Amino acid sequence: MTIRPATIHDVPRMQEIINSHAELGKMLFKSFAQLYEQLRDFAVVERDGLTGNASDAHIVGCVGLTVLWADLAEIRSLAVDDAYRGRGIGKQLVQWTIDEARRLQIRRIMSLTYEHEFFAKFGFEVVDKDTLPLKVWSDCVRCPKRDGCDEIAMVKTLHDVPMIVMPTAAPTPRGVSIPVLGNVED
Ligand SMILES: CC(C)(COP(=O)(O)OP(=O)(O)OC[C@H]1O[C@@H](n2cnc3c(N)ncnc32)[C@H](O)[C@@H]1OP(=O)(O)O)[C@@H](O)C(=O)NCCC(=O)NCCS
Repeated sequence: MTIRPATIHDVPRMQEIINSHAELGKMLFKSFAQLYEQLRDFAVVERDGLTGNASDAHIVGCVGLTVLWADLAEIRSLAVDDAYRGRGIGKQLVQWTIDEARRLQIRRIMSLTYEHEFFAKFGFEVVDKDTLPLKVWSDCVRCPKRDGCDEIAMVKTLHDVPMIVMPTAAPTPRGVSIPVLGNVED
């Protein structure tokens, strides 16, 4: 298994894997347009082909890391082909996001997820959604569950990455539900 930055050739397989989980309500659907636009955020895990030819290689998982603010990046579309679950691919993809955040010197990584036990294995901790900046909710307008979001917000802090002094991202207003936030202009 090899992990590497995604290319446009990977997009159809990435979409296939992501949307197979989205159909089960585990994550957001992604269109080709979204994946092309966000391509530079993504890494893929490739299973080397049996023949050793590049054309025989096969994408078995993907993840995106989107920079939201100077001290916050979000893990998006973490997805492993069901046939390859339990082989350490998810772990490899999460580790890539951690390495990437460290490379970019971003101190906190967040995830909105149903898989809190999985993320807890990597040092992510459950946080109150209100503690995250407003910007986090920009995707909610496209989410079918926006009227009743039940995802868990988790954050991992990279303590070896220094804190920096910066303007604070607009906070999530207290007591305002996420669907309402979908209508708030950035
Ligand atoms: C969650 C998911 C990414 C895990 O990928 P995976 O390749 O099966 O996970 P790994 O084999 O790398 O597992 C790493 C560790 O996490 C554990 N683990 C895997 N899935 C888990 C889960 N659902 N809950 C708790 N622990 C889990 C493994 O047992 C393993 O533990 P170990 O290191 O102590 O042996 C994958 O099941 C998936 O794509 N799920 C559907 C999409 C999804 O929910 N994505 C998350 C959206 S944010």
